Amino acid sequence: MVVTTMAADPGESLYSTFASRYVQTPLPRFKMPETAIPREAAFQIISDELMLDGNPRLNLASFVTTWMEPECDRLVMASINKNYVDMDEYPVTTELQNRCVNMIAHLFHAPIGEEEAAVGVGTVGSSEAIMLAGLAFKTKWQKKRKAQGKPFHSPNIVTGANVQVCWEKFARYFEVELKEVKLRDDFYVMDPVKAVEMVDENTICVATILGSTLTGEFEDVRLLNQLLSDKNKETGWDTPIHVDAASGGFIAPFIYPELEWDFRLPLVKSINVSGHKYGLVYAGVGWAIWRSKEDLPEELIFHINYLGSDQPTFTLNFSRGSSQIIAQYYQFIRLGFEGYRNVIENCMKNTRALRDGIAGTGRFTILSKDVGVPVVAFSLVDAGKYTVFDVSESLRRFGWIVPAYTMPPAAGHIAVLRVVIREDFSRGLAERLVSHLCKVLAELDALPGRTAAAAHLAAADAGKAAAEEEEIATFWRRLADRRKTSGVC
Ligand SMILES: Cc1ncc(COP(=O)(O)O)c(C=O)c1O
Repeated sequence: MVVTTMAADPGESLYSTFASRYVQTPLPRFKMPETAIPREAAFQIISDELMLDGNPRLNLASFVTTWMEPECDRLVMASINKNYVDMDEYPVTTELQNRCVNMIAHLFHAPIGEEEAAVGVGTVGSSEAIMLAGLAFKTKWQKKRKAQGKPFHSPNIVTGANVQVCWEKFARYFEVELKEVKLRDDFYVMDPVKAVEMVDENTICVATILGSTLTGEFEDVRLLNQLLSDKNKETGWDTPIHVDAASGGFIAPFIYPELEWDFRLPLVKSINVSGHKYGLVYAGVGWAIWRSKEDLPEELIFHINYLGSDQPTFTLNFSRGSSQIIAQYYQFIRLGFEGYRNVIENCMKNTRALRDGIAGTGRFTILSKDVGVPVVAFSLVDAGKYTVFDVSESLRRFGWIVPAYTMPPAAGHIAVLRVVIREDFSRGLAERLVSHLCKVLAELDALPGRTAAAAHLAAADAGKAAAEEEEIATFWRRLADRRKTSGVC
């Protein structure tokens, strides 16, 4: 976190059992130690502390890759000391990035001529890619409005209320209003009809999601394109579409090739995708791809000298690692189209097995759809005695990290659990998770519910019980509030 909080006792020290072979004095926790310690001690102290982190392979909260082949790990380690921005010094890494951009642009059906280069850039993740795409839309819209002599200070983006937090960040940091289409019961993605109704002359783009973070569902980009084209014709505007394909961008091309969601649709001007999700690379890589040069305003591009030639760049960061770009290229050539399809199809099979197991308990309603990102989102049929937050908490005991959260406003009364199926989540793990879920349900069933416990207290001491009940309620409210903003990425 950028904004840290201090422990109650800032003078607190760190003790490490095994490192005591090398150091005898405890280390201050929040101040730099006065003197050096042996490297073995530093290693041991940190390794011991990190043991308390969760196991990434059992972290079912995250779309982000937690396993790569050892050969790819070796490439990552071999390039860990290369700064990507030093293009003059590392021209091959730059070339690999350019190859990746072109491969992805072709995968997304960008209209590129035989001799033409695709327009796109490697980023730290989809969040940076979204900031860049948003800036391109804002600049283009403002330029046009200025040229027309019209006001250009109130740009907005139309999205669904299910957008990931990075869109809210973009809106706040770059002063663009986010106009969110509300969700409703049994409809947890953006409704294209309502979205197009909300478009006005200040709308810089409609942002639609291929693979909603909350349920994995694909939004209907084709219908959006059609409705928006009609509105553009009627009004004379030319409102474009951005597709946030953070997780779906490396799913749909391989297993739903007929689904039209990308540059095949004329209003789609830019797409972001996370290389570190189903692009199958460790955390730290995303991609922003534009339909054509015309969709990326020239004034946003910085030109740096690269081997005596001009290298255009468009990023928020200057320095960044090279490893993830190299790893992305490894995955592309190692797996090819067929390899990605096999991996994704396997994820979908495991998703179906898990979904059927969860549905088979008879205790949950499945909210995720059959077509979409390999995710199972499910809510308790009866949350009277305990909630999904209790289930999530109890699953921790078996090592599983399964987030529980409430849906965005208007559907905020729906609380769900979500399991993301990644390449490294096997059928065996799916079966084990279902069996642990059954154990947890049986245990929670056997406990006195929160309501029953409060009633018991009331019988013993009405006044005291009321205060305690309030305390319990506050605890749960706080817990639920905390969960609303954490766990889903
Ligand atoms: C739909 C969507 N957009 C954007 C993001 C942000 O992606 P990243 O973590 O690659 O920055 C996420 C993350 O889960 C997402 O699900």
